[in-house]
Amino acid sequence: MAQIKVRRLKHIPSEITVPGDKSISHRAAMFAGLANGRTEIDGFLPSEDCLCTVRAMEALGAQIEFLEETEGVGITRLAITGHGKTLQAPASPIDCGNSGTTTRLLAGILAGQKFSTTLTGDASLSKRPMKRIADPLRKMGAKVEGQGEKICAPLTISGGDLQAITYKLPMASAQVKSAVLLAGLYAPGKTSVIEPVPTRNHTERLFSHFGIKWLRDGDTVTVYGGQTPRAEDIVVPGDISSAAFWMVAAAIKPGAQITLKNIGLNGTRTGVIDVLLRMGAVISQRETHSDGEPRGSVVVKGGDLNGTDIGGNEIANVIDELPILAVAAAFARGSTVIRDAAELRVKETDRIAAVAENLRRMGVPVIERPDGMEIQGGSPLHGATIDSFGDHRIAMAFAIAGLHADGVTTIDGTECIATSYPGFERQLARFQNGGSDSPIPVVRSMPRKMGLDTLTAEDLKD
Ligand code: S3P
Repeated sequence: MAQIKVRRLKHIPSEITVPGDKSISHRAAMFAGLANGRTEIDGFLPSEDCLCTVRAMEALGAQIEFLEETEGVGITRLAITGHGKTLQAPASPIDCGNSGTTTRLLAGILAGQKFSTTLTGDASLSKRPMKRIADPLRKMGAKVEGQGEKICAPLTISGGDLQAITYKLPMASAQVKSAVLLAGLYAPGKTSVIEPVPTRNHTERLFSHFGIKWLRDGDTVTVYGGQTPRAEDIVVPGDISSAAFWMVAAAIKPGAQITLKNIGLNGTRTGVIDVLLRMGAVISQRETHSDGEPRGSVVVKGGDLNGTDIGGNEIANVIDELPILAVAAAFARGSTVIRDAAELRVKETDRIAAVAENLRRMGVPVIERPDGMEIQGGSPLHGATIDSFGDHRIAMAFAIAGLHADGVTTIDGTECIATSYPGFERQLARFQNGGSDSPIPVVRSMPRKMGLDTLTAEDLKD
């Protein structure tokens, strides 16, 4: 089991660059694979999760070329050539690894194919509820078979002639919304999803980018069936969910200042900035690109934070940032209440239980609630042995806690970090040891065009 040891930070780098947005990278790879023609994706996140999506699209008939590698991160520019939205049956089951996004969005696409596909995953993914996508996809006419009441993976999807539906989402989930909208491309007529609260809208924005007509009317998103995405090169911004770790690392340290450049600033994802502002952090953001996915830079200055309430409609906007916001709360004066966040219990691990357990190990009083927790912040944290529970966001959130705690914090089970943030540990080392502030990663072209099957470690050597 991989482990990292973290001590109190020595240095706050003035600038940090984070790799590409996970949600957008998944979708860009899927849309490119459904398009007729070649799409270059720049700023792609080569994390385990997103590579599962790329391999899946390759297994379904798309051609993949790796074009550029960023040192310490992996392949960040690639091209995907699709042959339209009617895909090829894969030769074997598709392994979705740890990735809920791959499984759920792909299920929507597979519902429209006239063949059966089995989606498998790791132990964590195999426990996550897939009934939430099985229900609407069955209503549209697909056959979806899974394990037990929660319809867990392995999941077998037999698609075919779909009918358009209007579906009221029982929970706030961009993954379920996207699965239904993607299936809607295969159903004649209008497929609509009614959201209880707005969730991240990357699928809708990518519909526009790839020439798919859709509309939003209040809480209803509608797509017109029969359309095929049009290949169109795309640039993926840095992931605000990854940037959030460094935002908090700086926000809780009086006198610190960090600049994060080229971060995705889509309003359905920037809730973490709003919460930190409410807690008293000093943050400024400047949008540099407003077309497609807005992006720009964020400057965070450290100070004394106060506890806050996080709940209601805001939860969908900060769902992936709640573990690191809970860490911020542990360093803030007073209590912080997180409510309406029961969805956290069905993420890569039960994130309410995992955060509460690990905060307690560091000496923070926490009351766990069915839909959240109450954190009593403001007392010094002490180093402890932390369990990642195999969840990337838990491992990284507590690495940041360790930077501000007394003694040594040991985080067990850190291989999962590769799920969303290749290069995290390398950047964490800059906080531990000081070192260069150079934010410029080394980017180089691949020796030749190659696909996933042909790439070896040898190829990646200089
Ligand atoms: C995601 C949506 C969220 C989020 C996940 C990625 C997406 O899940 O937690 O990390 O890319 O659509 P839900 O939509 O299920 O809440």
